[in-house]
Amino acid sequence: MAKTSFTCTGCGASHSKWAGQCDACGAWNTILEQGPLSAGPSKTLGGKRGNRLVLTDLATQEAEPPRTKAGVDELDRVLGGGLVGGSALLVGGDPGIGKSTLLLQAAARFGRNGLKVIYVSGEEATAQVRLRANRLGLKDSPVHLAAETNLRDILTTLEDEKPDLVIIDSIQTMWADHVDSAPGSVSQVRASAHELTNFAKRRNVAMIMVGHVTKEGQIAGPRVVEHMVDTVLYFEGERGHQFRILRAVKNRFGPADEIGVFEMTGRGLVEVKNPSALFLAERGDPTPGSAVFAGIEGSRPVLCEFQALVAPSPHSQPRRSVVGWDGSRLAMILAVLESRGGVSFQGLDVYLNVAGGMRVTEPAADLAVAAALISAREDAALPKDAVLFGEISLSGAVRPCPQTENRLKEAQKLGFSQAVLPPAKKQVGPAGIEQKQVRDLTDFVEQVFGAQSPQQEGSTDGRVHNR
Ligand code: TYD
Ligand code: MG
Repeated sequence: MAKTSFTCTGCGASHSKWAGQCDACGAWNTILEQGPLSAGPSKTLGGKRGNRLVLTDLATQEAEPPRTKAGVDELDRVLGGGLVGGSALLVGGDPGIGKSTLLLQAAARFGRNGLKVIYVSGEEATAQVRLRANRLGLKDSPVHLAAETNLRDILTTLEDEKPDLVIIDSIQTMWADHVDSAPGSVSQVRASAHELTNFAKRRNVAMIMVGHVTKEGQIAGPRVVEHMVDTVLYFEGERGHQFRILRAVKNRFGPADEIGVFEMTGRGLVEVKNPSALFLAERGDPTPGSAVFAGIEGSRPVLCEFQALVAPSPHSQPRRSVVGWDGSRLAMILAVLESRGGVSFQGLDVYLNVAGGMRVTEPAADLAVAAALISAREDAALPKDAVLFGEISLSGAVRPCPQTENRLKEAQKLGFSQAVLPPAKKQVGPAGIEQKQVRDLTDFVEQVFGAQSPQQEGSTDGRVHNR
């Protein structure tokens, strides 16, 4: 029997009946009825044959796509080695984080490196963009500027001008006149992104679209834009911090997970060549609750500091607050510490923070988090010259993680002389670093905090006792 279906135009989720709000993406008035799908044994698309495809094999040699470098390492690395012609990119981030600044600076760089660049602002008047360019010292850069939101006019101009790179700031301000809804709505954003991406492919133009992120942390409206484009970059940072991180979360032309680190100054964004030094710059004397994690971001080691604070809770349900790391991962580490390490956080509020506005996603940070938590709870500082890394499993075992040697080399470069790390069959890494291999949490507590596991001591309060 023929059956009608309902599909959300925002996220593509299908529903059995119509509803005002899509419960998959939360958008309103995006669910549309789709005509009955013919059921039963299918004759290929109604029995009509299409053209036959030409099939090839995997061995066919394909040339690497040509790339243009901006000449800014932090940007080029995140792009996978430079900008690929004909690729569509989405740059997402909170309003005010510095997306327009970043892209104006990038536009100027690519312009000077020989690309014909058009920057279309739908948010600011040309005078405003010119003022900013002036302040950034870019007024002589060859960038063509327009303030416009009408997609048809923009595409017509692009067809005639034949640029190499187009920057659309932002996709939420674009208005496609063939779509019957307000700018910024899911269907408008989707249609505009679709047209612009198509244009990029058809004319072999690199297309960078800016997308504002909603409070829930999604690029407003359509996750579908993420599926349409080749590359998705997020520009992140904390207000009040100068540091900004450009992170590749998807890249068809390079590795994802790469980050580029910038500092927002009075003269725009400046690249940060040695992020580890920057993230550790504010460390003073050893303090309880502080642990240095030797992490890997994409292809590069980055050291950063975890800070924990533990205090008796006035609430029946103690607070767990975390900035820069995953909240549910924190809950897991607390549970494992309690049941496998004999360290209880019951009745205690726990705050965890990554210094400098960095956001860590690697599971290898588990051991540094555990160390920061125990150190805060025991009021015992870790040695100042120690770094930690290792994933903790639910059984309490410490698991190996990739790129041990790179992590240790970076630690040594920054003056660290001890590392607490997972067990390894063969010792790698520079000679100048003393390596403490820990098998599991009990072993870890013993070696790092110099105490026996309290369960073995017969302690009842679950504290680790320092000698
Ligand atoms: P902007 O690029 O407009 O952010 P977005 O496009 O993501 O909304 O940047 C806004 C902030 O950056 C603004 O609060 C001021 C700051 N800023 C500087 O600190 N230095 C500068 O040179 C510029 C241009 C902006
Ligand atoms: Mg902006």
